[in-house]
This record gives sequence, structure tokens and C-alpha cells, in this order.
Amino acid sequence: MRETYRVADRCRVCGSAHLWQFLSLGDSPLANAFVRPGTPTPDPRYPLALVKCEDCTQVQLTVVVRPEILFRDYAYASSASSSMIEHFRAMAGAITSRYATRGTLVVEIGSNDGVLLRPLAAAGARVLGVEPAENLAAVANAAGVETWNAFFSLSLARRIVVEKGQARVVVANNVMAHIDDLDDLTQGLNALLDGDGVFVAEVPYLVELLDRVEFDTVYHEHLSYFSISALRTLFARRGLELFDVKRETVHGGSLRLHVGRPGRHPLTAGLTATLEDESRREMHDRVPYQEFARRVVVARDALRSLVHTLRTQGKRIAGYGAAAKGNTLLNYCGLASDDIEFIVDSTPYKQGLLAPGTRIPVVPESWILDRQPDYALLLAWNHAEAIVRKNAEYVRRGGRFILPLPVARVMD
Ligand code: TMP
Ligand code: ZN
Repeated sequence: MRETYRVADRCRVCGSAHLWQFLSLGDSPLANAFVRPGTPTPDPRYPLALVKCEDCTQVQLTVVVRPEILFRDYAYASSASSSMIEHFRAMAGAITSRYATRGTLVVEIGSNDGVLLRPLAAAGARVLGVEPAENLAAVANAAGVETWNAFFSLSLARRIVVEKGQARVVVANNVMAHIDDLDDLTQGLNALLDGDGVFVAEVPYLVELLDRVEFDTVYHEHLSYFSISALRTLFARRGLELFDVKRETVHGGSLRLHVGRPGRHPLTAGLTATLEDESRREMHDRVPYQEFARRVVVARDALRSLVHTLRTQGKRIAGYGAAAKGNTLLNYCGLASDDIEFIVDSTPYKQGLLAPGTRIPVVPESWILDRQPDYALLLAWNHAEAIVRKNAEYVRRGGRFILPLPVARVMD
């Protein structure tokens, strides 16, 4: 039998073998592998642990699960909530004006249903999407956004150049953390970008993970957890230069990066300030990671003890939002269906399935009022504001929300 995963014993950014493990979340099921009722137990588990590269500060998972397994039953869904549509519309506007993309080629890697490319095309850019999920590529093509159903690679970049020419802008939002071969990505960018071309990307930010104890965002699809220092190293290795970064609030704290050819774009104050901040935090040292690992254990114990206290009092608890990160949280905290009765979620394909590992049923959001659990644990805490706002009736009837992180607390 072929191995289902491989151990990543080299740094994905600099190739170093000096990897230091600072966090283990045990063996965990795949966070998006929702289970059909009746499927024999147990759900397959894989090691979930983080290492830091002692040479370049890259943080990465210890293993890479084979993509065929990771994405086998993966029902790709457009995450185009109204707040995300607004986020991408604003991003399209910023790219159009800053890089004068009218009449130039703009390529997006992981272009989803075309949510970002549509406004860019409307503003006069020639756009091309690259999207590995067949259903999403089909939706985008049907809506008139040319989209190739493929994984981005150096060879694909060369094909794009032959057929479409070089690109002024290449975008990749929430894609880099999923890519195992980052060197192939940077080589591909090098081939695809024109002389003044810019790569714009959004990635979750390591500093946010550490600061806000967002350990639940660690799961097998997220291979890398980037700092600016590591990103600079990554691009420099292929002759590219990170020249601007800005922090964004989406997905629990992201970074927007701008990368070009050396000397073509001035280094911004935002980059300098963020680098100084990382140096103040001593991100090259072990201390911030040890402190994070300590806070993860505190967070787990606090959530377990809150849930168990409430259960002892006979209170009923549901989960709110069957997000992938919720599955890391529940599995690591050892919470299952005797603690959490059900998880409500608005996504039709998740309803009727069971959460991986914990086997907690996923049900429609209407259950919150139909069953009126005493507490709703916000597994999708990044949407807390929207969820609390739309559940005023649940709260009016006495329901309370629990925020799991950075330390579990019942919301006022
Ligand atoms: P995401 O943050 O990874 O996109 O996951 C959010 C999950 O929460 C997703 O499965 C949809 C669900 N959700 C609800 O059920 N109700 C809501 O109001 C919102 C905003 C999200
Ligand atoms: Zn490294």
C-alpha cells in the first residue's frame, strides 16, 4: 500500500533540515472530511503538528497528506459570503488603480467562481482564472470569466505566456498555504510576470495565529504558516522582491503581499514596520512559539472545563458553523456528541453529514430556534458578529453564545 502521507523533513522555503517541533495537536481527522451517516468508524487520522525552521522562521506542518486523499470527497464551495464579495470588490479596485491594469493581462490562481476577476474585467483588464475545482471553474466560465481547470505550476505558467502573453498582475488569495512545492510557484511567477509585473497574494499571518491562539486554523490543508521574514526569503531565492505588506482582517487576520522584480517598486513603510514588528517579537527565537504552545493548552483546558461544567448543570450545547477549523478544535479538545448535540450550518452539502472524528450531526441553522439549546459554541468565530446579529431571537429567548478562543468565554 502506498503511504497516505509523507513526513516533511525539509523546510519548504529554504530547504533546511533544522526543523524544531513546538506544537502537537495529536492525530486528527481531515478537517473537511465530513462523514456520511453509517460510514464505519474510525475516521482516518493523521499527525497534526507544527515545526519552525531554525534557519528562515518558516512554520509548517510535519506531514503532507497525499492530495488525492485530502481532496477526495472535498465538496468545494464558493465561500463568497457578502462580506467576502465586498472584500474582493475592494481588492479589485485597489489593483486596478495601483497597477493600471486596463488592457493588461491579470491572472488569478485559485480563482474560485470568478468573484475577484469579474470586477477586474469590468474595469478593463484581460483576465484569466486558474482553478483546480472543476465545478467552480465551470461556474466562472459560464459567467464569462475565462477559467482554466488546472493547478498552477511552472509548466502551466509557460503555457499561459504562449497563449496569452505575460501578466501585469498575478493574484493568489488563500492559496499559498496549500501549496507543497513553493519553489515551483515562485518559478512559475517568474515566468509569467512581465518586467513591471506584480504578484499580489493574501495569506493567513503567523503573528495572528500566535497572538490570538488560533490553533484551530491548523489542519492538514494548511501546510505553511507564513511570517514576513520567511516570505522574503522565499521570493528572494527566485529573484523576486517582497515590497509591500498590509494586514487585513479577513479569515481571522491575513496579510496582503505585493511582490515584484527587485528595484522596480519602492519598499513601502508598511513592509519596514511589519519587519520591525517581527524583529521586536523575536520571531527567529523559540520563545514566542513556546508561549503559544502553552496558551493552546490553557485554551483547551478552559473550553473543556466550561463545557463540562455546563453539562453537569444539565445545560444543552450546540455548535454554530461547521467550519473546518471547528473540527480541529473539537477533536483536540476531546469534545464529542455527548457534549455538543449538533452543529448548525448554512451550507446545504454539509447538512445531514457528521463532523469528522467527533461524529456530531450537522443540521440546518433553523435548529437553533427549533431546539433552542442553552448555549451555542461559535466554531466559525470569524463570523461571530454576523451570526450573533442574525440570531437575536435565540438570544431573546435566553440562548447564549460561547467564544472558544483565545480563552473560552460566554458572550454578554
Ligand atoms: P469558513 O469561515 O471557513 O468559511 O466557515 C464558516 C462556516 O460557517 C461555513 O460552513 C458556513 C457557516 N456559517 C453558518 O452556518 N452561518 C452563518 O451565518 C455564517 C456566516 C457561516
Ligand atoms: Zn527554512
